[in-house]
Amino acid sequence: MTDSFFHIAIDGPVAAGKGTISRLASKKLQFLYVDTGAMYRMTAFLAHANKIPYSKENKIVELIKNSTMEMRNPTKDEQDGRLTTVFLDGEDVSWKIRTKEIGQGASKVAILSEVRKILVKKQKIIAKNKNVIMEGRDITYKVLPKADLKIYLTAKTEERAKRRLLQFQQKGFSTSLEEVISSVKRRDTRDMGRATDPLKIVPDAWEIDTSDMDIEEVVDLIIERVNKMRAK
Ligand code: DC
Repeated sequence: MTDSFFHIAIDGPVAAGKGTISRLASKKLQFLYVDTGAMYRMTAFLAHANKIPYSKENKIVELIKNSTMEMRNPTKDEQDGRLTTVFLDGEDVSWKIRTKEIGQGASKVAILSEVRKILVKKQKIIAKNKNVIMEGRDITYKVLPKADLKIYLTAKTEERAKRRLLQFQQKGFSTSLEEVISSVKRRDTRDMGRATDPLKIVPDAWEIDTSDMDIEEVVDLIIERVNKMRAK
């Protein structure tokens, strides 16, 4: 157990439904929802805005150290489909970090071990003394290794690509299913194959394949399990 607070750690590949499921479950449980991918996206956004290549570790570390990253649940005025509100140096970049370019950039800067060290430290601080649902790629074994509940959320590649395509279309980005499938595969290869803290399933994780499930079903399954655990 993690002291008297309940920590739910969720890892999984791109577009497995981690964000939507975590957000809905966090509302029902009244836990804080933390989207750690947004921090890697903000890092890529910073590099892109400053014309720094995604591989330049020292420069990127410097940029993060000189910036502030804040995240909170969306307010009533921000109900535009976002799952979390993200501020980089005080600017609301919640949507600016959701582009294809920044998504690919995020998985590139996520390879850099010094960048990971800084962001993991920030994430541990955020979770301290709080009930949280935190999702990402290394949460179950690196950020919250003592989490009360560890979940590996996944779905078939084509299903994930279809979901991502729908999200892009809703945002008005033009792309094809084939293009999204190859982009999802590229991200998976990079996220699972990197040397530092790759995406993996830990032995004590509960694996949920969401390919044939709807969002509500998954959320209910998680809530039921959490309620049972907390009642003990
Ligand atoms: O969850 P997302 O698609 O917003 O994440 C963007 C990228 O950030 C993803 O390709 C991998 C990286 N990431 C990571 O390496 N570790 C995390 N805890 C979260 C995200």
